[in-house]
Amino acid sequence: MQLRIPGPTPCPPEVLKALGKQMIDHRGKEFGEIITRITANLKTLFQTKNDLFILSSSGSGGMESAVVNMLSPSDKVLSVAIGVFGERFAEIARTYGANVIPLNFEYGKAADPDEIRKALHADPAIKAVLVTHNETSTGVTNDMAAISKVIREFDKLILVDSISGLGSLDLPVDTLGLDVVIAGSQKGWMVPPGLSFASVSEKAWKAHAVAKIPRFYFDYTKAKKYLADAQTPWTPAISVYFGLDVSTKAMVAEGVASIAQRHAKVAEFTRKELKERGLTIFADEKYASNVVTSVKADEKLSVPKLRQILRDEHKVIIAGGQGKLKGKIFRIGHMGWVSKEDMKEVLQALDKALPKARE
Ligand SMILES: Cc1ncc(COP(=O)(O)O)c(C=O)c1O
Repeated sequence: MQLRIPGPTPCPPEVLKALGKQMIDHRGKEFGEIITRITANLKTLFQTKNDLFILSSSGSGGMESAVVNMLSPSDKVLSVAIGVFGERFAEIARTYGANVIPLNFEYGKAADPDEIRKALHADPAIKAVLVTHNETSTGVTNDMAAISKVIREFDKLILVDSISGLGSLDLPVDTLGLDVVIAGSQKGWMVPPGLSFASVSEKAWKAHAVAKIPRFYFDYTKAKKYLADAQTPWTPAISVYFGLDVSTKAMVAEGVASIAQRHAKVAEFTRKELKERGLTIFADEKYASNVVTSVKADEKLSVPKLRQILRDEHKVIIAGGQGKLKGKIFRIGHMGWVSKEDMKEVLQALDKALPKARE
């Protein structure tokens, strides 16, 4: 089976083996050693000295944690959205009563730092900016260096969804001054869904101290207090920790630069091969994501049929479009445990399936 959706992603055999281990006491010594080791490894891979918490939730829970820990009801927040997940971040903030100012860009394009500057200039009351690092729904990676530079000019809090980015792409959290950054276990980390990660800067802690949105499960103060004793406030998804202990050890040994390069090579190969077949990349190619490739579906192509043929006849699973991109694009995930050979298999299957999926 070639599971090539942009998360969950396949787990290597050594991770699968670790996932099957017997349960342990989450308040005991063994778990304490595991959480300490994983937290240190995650900090290395986030390139941060900030606090970092492992939350038992999917990525959206991590996004919600950023909102409830940083904001007060009616705080003004600039939402920079380039797709479905950027819009979700805004929706979470709105749900908790924030005054969200949307700055939406055309699907397929990256966010324009100059437009962000204009928006921040126009409204000095904005407290925080929500940004998606890698927009999985469109296959676009934002230029976080340029974007964070603009936001720092205005000294605003930078809350980043890097759920599908971190673990695969190079995001130097401290160099870019990112205040809260969220990642999700089922993406480049090569473990199942169930955990999200949140890094929290000193500036973020200051915002946290005055933030008034009610919070309980995701309270960073509780997380920090328990982490000091190598624990979590609530029962953690222990099995996923077992897997993550194995995968992050290997990732740290490889290094962020090599991981990012490996993803870039697989992505470049995928894009080149797709274009050679006459297909069109949906994303603005300057910002095309190295973890997920979005491909335009021409009018004759039925995306559901294509996905069905790939699944039933070739054991290849790809993703369709989300929201208003449903039926208009298909997406191939290549994050985490993936090689050029895997992509060759996907491409060979596409060669056979595409003619059959055209009406
Ligand atoms: C960029 C991005 N943000 C948020 C999410 C939501 O994460 P989850 O489905 O784990 O809640 C995803 C998941 O695909 C994502 O790719």
